[in-house]
Formats: sequence, C-alpha cells, structure tokens
Amino acid sequence: MRVLGIETSCDETSAAIVEECDDDLRPWAVRSNVVASQVAIHRAWGGIVPELSARQHIRDICGVVERALEDAGPVPARSVPYDLIAVTQGPGLVGSLLVGLAFAKSLAWSRNVPFVPVHHLAGHIESLVLEGGEMLLPAVVLVVSGGHTSLYRVPARGVYERLGRTRDDAAGEAYDKVAKLLGLGYPGGPVVDRLAAEGNDRAVALPRTRLTHPDRNAPDLPGHRDFSFSGLKTSVARHVAQRRTALALPADAPLPEGEVRDVSASFQRVVAGTLLDALFDAAREAGARSVGIAGGVSANSRLRRDALARGAAAGLPVLVPALSLSTDNAAMIAAAGLRAFRAGERGDWGVNADASLPLTDVGAAFRRPRAG
Ligand code: KG4
Ligand code: ZN
Repeated sequence: MRVLGIETSCDETSAAIVEECDDDLRPWAVRSNVVASQVAIHRAWGGIVPELSARQHIRDICGVVERALEDAGPVPARSVPYDLIAVTQGPGLVGSLLVGLAFAKSLAWSRNVPFVPVHHLAGHIESLVLEGGEMLLPAVVLVVSGGHTSLYRVPARGVYERLGRTRDDAAGEAYDKVAKLLGLGYPGGPVVDRLAAEGNDRAVALPRTRLTHPDRNAPDLPGHRDFSFSGLKTSVARHVAQRRTALALPADAPLPEGEVRDVSASFQRVVAGTLLDALFDAAREAGARSVGIAGGVSANSRLRRDALARGAAAGLPVLVPALSLSTDNAAMIAAAGLRAFRAGERGDWGVNADASLPLTDVGAAFRRPRAG
C-alpha cells in the first residue's frame, strides 16, 4: 500500500509518498518527501504571519504534491499512484491546515481513494519509527517544536498517554524569542545552536523552572512533568538589558559577539538540561525500555548529544529522527496515516481543520460513537 501524505499545519508545505513494507519492525519506507519552506517569507516579519502562511500554501501545494509523486517514481499499470491520502487535521494555524485538508479531500474525492485525518504530533512521534523502526515499548517520547513541548508515555503502538506539557512557551518558541532578543533573526533554533557551540555555557546564570503543582487548566496531569520556558526567556531579556546598560549601548544594539555566544550556550544548557531531566526521570518512573525525542528542536546538536550520553549511561536506547524528519514534513504524516488506517480509521467528508485538536489513541476516534 502506498500513501500520499500532506502537511500544511504551519510554515512548511510538504508532500510525501510512504510505502508499507512486509516487515513488522520496519513497517514503512519513505519513497519521497518534498518540503517547501516559507522561512524566507516570514523572516522579514520576525515570526510566522498566519495569513501569509495560508496564502503561500495555496501557491505551493500543487507543485509540491506533483514533485513528491515524480520523486517517488512511476508505478507501472496504475492510473492513481497511491492507495490512501493522509493529511494533517490539526493542531496548527487554522488557515494553513485548511489548505492541506481541502486539497487532500478534493484529491481523495476525484481519485476515489480513502483519506485519513492525522494529528500533527502523532506524525512527529511516527518520525521516530520511520527512522529507527518500531520502538521498544513502553517508551517515553518528548515532542519538542516551535508550537509544542509535550511528554508522552507510549505503552502500546499508537497509544499516547500525556505525562506533561508546557504551560506557556514551547521550547522552540523560547529559542526563537531568545534569538530575536540577541538580534539573530528568525528562526532562532539553528543559529542559537551554532553560536552556542563556541560559547561558555556557564557564563550566564539562568534559572531553571521546576513545577511541582498541578495546573488548574489541566487537572488530568500530575503537574510535576510540566514545563515552563517563559521565565527563562524573561531572564535572558533582563540579562541583555543589563549588559546594554553596563556597556552604554543603545536600546536595540546587539551585544558583543562573544557575549552573544555565551548567552546562547548558557540558554541552551538550561533548555537541554530541563528537557532531558524530565524525559529521563519520566522514563525511569514509567519503566520505559526506550526514549525518543521528536519535533523541530530534536535537531538541536546539544540535545542530541546529551540525550545519547544519558541514554548510554542509563542503558536506554535513544531514538531521534534524521534531520530531514525532525522538522515538519509529510513523510511522518503519511506514516501516522497508515497506522491509523490499519487501525480502522477513515476520514469522512465532514472532517474539518482543528487548530487545537487533542491527541487521541490511534483508532479511538473511529471506535467512539459519532455525535449527531
Ligand atoms: O517541528 P517544527 O518544524 O515546527 C513546529 O511544529 O513547530 O519546529 C520548528 C522549531 C522552531 O522553533 C525552530 O527554531 C526549532 O524548531 N529548531 C531548533 C533547531 N532547529 C529547529 N531549535 C533548536 N536547535 C535547532 N538546531
Ligand atoms: Zn511540528
């Protein structure tokens, strides 16, 4: 079975062809994965502008899907080179999601193939399986990106128990905001990562936030696995302002290069330490046999390096996706779609984009009695 994946939840238009394999442990193979990034458009505004994002998806989607089909190569004697369409339903920017969903539904209708709506984070989690094969279960997975920082226990394939999540900024968002404070442009993650490699990670004392009490807005969670990154960002802002005053610099002037590297390294040490403490503590508590880190921030060099070292020390395999599968892409959506389809899920024509779609277990939506 071949599936066409489509992802437009944020600022990447992506389409991919993923094929099912006759292998229980390596269930899927990526045949193509095309990503058109909008970074150059949003950079001028210092962050993502939702309306511009939706419009650019409309411009790009036909070409991206055609290219994904071409890259995957022809399928002899078949008029439709895929058997299923998987598309991100949410969460994300609603206008952007709508472009992918409307396109996928139209294609499914006109080609007479089924489609399945996919949760974006289920996609990120399946990027780990695309990379390393089925995870040893139970696993604990950290999904960490520009829009999310959440920790899940995965006791069985396609089952996601949320252990914690950020109460304010996502880790990637904190990277992007700190980069802006340091005058490094958008997106901030890769450039802070690069500069941090040359800085002193103990130069600036920055606080770590440890939450111990349950969140009023999420009474289902114990609270002690939640994250908070807005205090860290504020501390960086305060430090930058103090240094400007001390150096008699104007309000918007960049700090000297060496100081920018030190702030980047110190910030990165705190973020990686906070994320990995939570991941490995949760893994111990959950009796995990493997851990994974998915999402755009999983591209971070220090997070990867420290995670592998901690995994080796704890005797736990650590899964991280290839760089091309860590940021948003449609191959992971196609993989999650295949899992959902095999669990009996089918999209119906009434499915709509949902900017704050909750992550449910694969197959659960199909088993639930439908409203109306
Ligand atoms: O998963 P993703 O492509 O989109 C969302 O679903 O949000 O993640 C994008 C985020 C951005 O905040 C970006 O700054 C961050 O991932 N990022 C990084 C790195 N590469 C991308 N953060 C830290 N270090 C990196 N190397
Ligand atoms: Zn993402």
